[in-house]
Amino acid sequence: MSNLVVIGTQWGDEGKGKIVDLLSSEADTIVRFQGGHNAGHTLVVGDEIFKLSLLPSGIIRENKIAVIGNGVVLDPWKLLEEIEQLSSRGIKIGSERLIISENTPLILPFHKELDLLREKRAGKEKIGTTGRGIGPAYEDKVGRRALRTGDLQNTQEIKRKLKNIKAHHDILRAGLGAPDIDEEQLLNELVLVGEKIKTLIKPVWKILNKQIKKNQNILFEGAQGSMLDVDFGTYPFVTSSSTIAAAAAIGSGVAHNKIKSVLGITKAYTTRVGEGPMPTELTDSIGRYLAVEGNEKGTVTGRDRRCGWFDAPLVKRSCILNGVTSLALTKIDVLDKLETIKICIGYRVDKEELSDFPVTTSLTKRLTPIYEEIDGWNTSTVGLEKMSKLPLNARIYIQRIEELTDSKVSIISTGPERNQTITINSPFQSN
Ligand code: GDP
Ligand code: IMO
Ligand code: MG
Repeated sequence: MSNLVVIGTQWGDEGKGKIVDLLSSEADTIVRFQGGHNAGHTLVVGDEIFKLSLLPSGIIRENKIAVIGNGVVLDPWKLLEEIEQLSSRGIKIGSERLIISENTPLILPFHKELDLLREKRAGKEKIGTTGRGIGPAYEDKVGRRALRTGDLQNTQEIKRKLKNIKAHHDILRAGLGAPDIDEEQLLNELVLVGEKIKTLIKPVWKILNKQIKKNQNILFEGAQGSMLDVDFGTYPFVTSSSTIAAAAAIGSGVAHNKIKSVLGITKAYTTRVGEGPMPTELTDSIGRYLAVEGNEKGTVTGRDRRCGWFDAPLVKRSCILNGVTSLALTKIDVLDKLETIKICIGYRVDKEELSDFPVTTSLTKRLTPIYEEIDGWNTSTVGLEKMSKLPLNARIYIQRIEELTDSKVSIISTGPERNQTITINSPFQSN
């Protein structure tokens, strides 16, 4: 067994939550290391559905430790709300099993306001953010003026930092026609929220490294997807964090060479929420079929997800960037009723053919996919738990994905439920 990072290889919503929940049974600790409550992870356990945005998906299993690392941006009010929601459903969350890093930057109410004001002003040029203040909070982190969880333990420190951050934001707000920040009110609210979460705030880097010394298994839960990565995604239509596997180290304080395995979660087709290029997008009846059969509605914002065929060069690139050791292929059942299935194997731009996904937005927008066609299987795969039960054409489809992405599939997901899964081999094994 070793430590494992789970990341999305496309534009998010690949089914990371389901797979993390499943694999949590084999882990001692589950760590969120980037992003914030822009994530929406849906877990289905029997008759129960859990929708998590901030808490690691392992939290719903008793006796597991859930960690929020320094790479996350944390809205403390949203955190309390999510803890409350789970508590009301009988899931006990105390300081013995939820730990938050001392150096996690906070998302404050004015970050959300700025996010929304900017999107509104951008009009047609908007990013299509989740409106949760993610971008502005990361800006303050790298701008070295963020308030961090550790600051909440000291009222004088909150006061000092609030003055500084307010000075910066009042200038931005004036430019957007928003009133100055009410410093006193926010100070009071931060002192109150700090009181409520202070027992959770601990030196995460130290705790995780101690666990590793004791040979405990740590599962790192990525949010978003590699195509939303701030460096390697379809910039500027990306989120504001590094979403690739390397971020697990930086966002938690566990050295990169302690993390051996990377599971890339890959949907059997492609979806995207928000603006930005998506070469295989389908606006026809097949696109609508995928949206309906796959129930492709955003967990966080309720927006319709754009749908299209599987984009192999895009996923292959993600596998390389993340050092994927195996793939979990999700939502194969959504393709059950299709006569033929297309896979994008390259792109055409003007008269040129490209085999790699280009990163220049102006070029990405102009790509025409080159497709290969595979016969559908016209049989239900819903809930299958054994590889031998998969129809031949489904196996051909999976094999072709393995060839085109140069990666091995270790898990096939055949439904939203925990048990609706075919495990070929354990993704905790690095090879
Ligand atoms: P995440 O953000 O990567 O965790 O993914 P989301 O939870 O936002 O979106 C994935 C959706 O697909 C959720 O509603 C899951 O319950 C559902 N899901 C996950 N795996 C499967 C699967 O294999 N088949 C089907 N039909 N649904 C799935
Ligand atoms: P999970 O973890 C899908 C998208 C937004 C927008 C862009 C920037 O559920 O896979 P942001 O609010 O982060 O500044 O928005 O990123 N986005 C996601 N899309 N799944 C997510 O998370 C996402 N988190 C952010 O739609 O296009
Ligand atoms: Mg999601």
